Amino acid sequence: MRGIAAYKSVELVRLLQDAGYDPHVVMTAAAEKFVTPLTFAAISGHKVITSLWGEEAGTGSAEDDAEGDDGVSSIEHIQAAQSTSLLVVAPATANMLAKFAHGLADDFLSTMYLATTAPVIVAPAMNVNMWEHPAVQTNVATLRARGVKVIEPGSGYLACGMVGGGRLAEPATIVDAIVETLAGGTEGGVGQGGDFTGETVLVTAGGTREAIDPVRFIGNRSSGRMGYAVAVAARRRGAKVVLISAPTGLPCPAGVEVEQVVTVEDMRAAVMARLNEMTVVVMAAAVSDYRVKSVAEQKMKREGAQAVSLELAGTVDILREVVGRRRDGTLVVGFAAETENAMANGRAKLERKGVDAVVVNDVSEDGIGFDSEQNAGSFLTKDGAVEFPVMSKTEMAERILDEVLKLRDRAAH
Ligand code: CTP
Repeated sequence: MRGIAAYKSVELVRLLQDAGYDPHVVMTAAAEKFVTPLTFAAISGHKVITSLWGEEAGTGSAEDDAEGDDGVSSIEHIQAAQSTSLLVVAPATANMLAKFAHGLADDFLSTMYLATTAPVIVAPAMNVNMWEHPAVQTNVATLRARGVKVIEPGSGYLACGMVGGGRLAEPATIVDAIVETLAGGTEGGVGQGGDFTGETVLVTAGGTREAIDPVRFIGNRSSGRMGYAVAVAARRRGAKVVLISAPTGLPCPAGVEVEQVVTVEDMRAAVMARLNEMTVVVMAAAVSDYRVKSVAEQKMKREGAQAVSLELAGTVDILREVVGRRRDGTLVVGFAAETENAMANGRAKLERKGVDAVVVNDVSEDGIGFDSEQNAGSFLTKDGAVEFPVMSKTEMAERILDEVLKLRDRAAH
């Protein structure tokens, strides 16, 4: 494992966690020369398997430490290999590719490769001459023929000073491949599917912006996290996902088609253009209710600006339009961010907008809702309310999708 590639592996673990996975790390002896197992143990929260014979590094996690180091046998390791849902090797060295291709099993990773029936992804990284060597290319071809997904090294500057094609692919690219594989790729991959397989989900997220002049806008405090979490969870559970995103500081989620928009009108156009394909629509965006009636063409000056009035006009209610134009069977979930009488306002919104469900958040409480990692609220339908206590937005996204599936079941019976 080359130094830079090792850092990328650390980032890969983090990105996988962000995508809602729970990665466990296996390290070879070569990898340990660049990063300590404790680094991976600390970020993954799990023991790192470093040998066939149970000498792995602890984690500081009470649950894992309780098992003790001594009791872990190679048999248990093989069980770990068999319960994993995907094996990704990043970086994969020329040596490891050769071992995989020829069925050698002289360390934990090569043994795991033989023992697992899960899909395997390799992301090779090595000197460019090694990568291009017929011996390596033949091994890669053998692995491909066996169904192993190979993420080609990207080109660029290598640590050994040569410029070429041996550099480990970017972590985000590797995560994309993992999500595609686990969620059931649309291109006939080795996907295992999930309970959203067959659904096409549109999610809106972020806070729209309405211009005042060329440099100023009216916006809101939405971070986009809740909508992004719903998009990531739906993709991981097997849906095809289109995310229409107003500005956020968030990275594009893997495996999700993202369309960036700014104003309410942009968002409306983007949503309507895709509505016909959708089986589920989740409108988590904080959409401006007003826009400035006439936007100043030049930057407004301070001079004489003691009291300026902006004339505002109402914007179109995208959610209402979606409900009016959806195909039969398309489920529509709205959000209601409220600062008072959350439940009553939420229920009124449910009826007024004609949606199948409203997720109500009380955004007046500190630490939940807007611009925070956590959320709490209720999932309202015509049949009642399901309470969501304070939890991470990632977890709430899963709970919202669970409720959407229940609505789907109810509609079917
Ligand atoms: N919404 C929308 N288009 C708008 C305003 C809101 O699609 N122009 C959607 C939001 O994405 C959210 C839901 O409607 O899913 C409720 O948004 P909210 O701002 O809470 O409600 P409003 O309809 O604006 O009602 P009010 O401001 O009176 O609370």
